[in-house]
Amino acid sequence: MQQVKAVIARTQGAPVELVTINVPDPGPGEAVVRVQACGVCHTDLHYREGGINNDFPFLLGHEASGIVEAVGPDVTEVAPGDFVILNWRAVCGQCRACRRGEPWYCFATHNATQKMTLEDGTELSPALGIGAFAEKTLVAAGQCTKVDPTRPAAVGLLGCGVMAGIGAAINTGGVTRGKSVAVIGCGGVGVAAIAGSALAGAGPIIAVDIDAKKLAAATRLGATHTVDSSTADPVTAIRELTGGFGADVVIEAVGRPETWKQAFYARDLAGTVVLVGVPTPQMTLPDLPLIDVFGRGGALKSSWYGDCLPSRDFPMLVDLYKRGKLDLDAFVSEEIRMTDIEAAFERMHRGEVLRSVVIL
Ligand code: APR
Ligand code: ZN
Ligand code: ZN
Repeated sequence: MQQVKAVIARTQGAPVELVTINVPDPGPGEAVVRVQACGVCHTDLHYREGGINNDFPFLLGHEASGIVEAVGPDVTEVAPGDFVILNWRAVCGQCRACRRGEPWYCFATHNATQKMTLEDGTELSPALGIGAFAEKTLVAAGQCTKVDPTRPAAVGLLGCGVMAGIGAAINTGGVTRGKSVAVIGCGGVGVAAIAGSALAGAGPIIAVDIDAKKLAAATRLGATHTVDSSTADPVTAIRELTGGFGADVVIEAVGRPETWKQAFYARDLAGTVVLVGVPTPQMTLPDLPLIDVFGRGGALKSSWYGDCLPSRDFPMLVDLYKRGKLDLDAFVSEEIRMTDIEAAFERMHRGEVLRSVVIL
């Protein structure tokens, strides 16, 4: 066991605290990782606000990279010294999704068996089974995806939001060369969907947001057209930019009924809508004639973690980053310390950043 500094949410709504925690030595199937960088994601704030579940105290942080420090006795997939991105989809290989060859839907993903605790022994609930606002964290070995060493702050973002966006386009939406794409909501996730669509060779790539700052970032990451939906009707604008038809793939990266409805009507016949924004439990589907669902054909999908398979997708995307084809640096709005997380939540809330990244 060792003691390290970490950031927790002790009770619902209270500011996060920097405390000392106990990290057990890795047991069978586990690894201890020395965290180097961890992005601040909406889900961390949702945990703090009690919006995910009530298992306080939470050890926050889950969008991270670092170096494996130690592994449990039977671990073969990673070794001490490996540079890894942490993932929250350590697939089991045995559930019905894994057995039918679709492990990105794995229904029984692995986390560490042992618990990290406060100094008094109170068990911590690590965010998404990771808990990486910590100098070191204990995870399942399968949560460590080995990649080529490179800038930790940039590639750590593949551990959650950026992968969610890229995957929503490429994995869930099936975006390929020549397809038209519209992305509604250009925060970190939406802009990543734009970058993924650009990587895939799609066009036009239409970015939609109510905030002009976000549209500038979207253009930097590969949008060919922008629509400010605070002043223009996005459905009309997207249709005009796609020969009057609508986009082949429309990605909703806000997580609200009204923007989902815009996505629904902004796609072409037989097109695909991908919902990657996360709605609250209170939100319901917008009023929609069922004949429109039937008559327009196509697919209405949701994308959870970009339907990614970390072992397949992380090394490939790191390779594209290192070759200058995927600008992950553009997602790092600022590098901060563990003591700055509350301020980063504020900036995230005000829409001032794509990502604040804690450097450890
Ligand atoms: N129309 C268009 N864009 C909107 C609208 C709207 N009605 N409302 C908000 N937006 C834009 C915001 O201006 C912002 O740029 O959506 C974007 C949301 O981005 P972020 O708040 O930075 O969130 P992000 O990290 O990108 O995550 C997007 O996915 O993971 C989930 O919980 C997350 O639901 C959130 C979504
Ligand atoms: Zn499985
Ligand atoms: Zn996240």
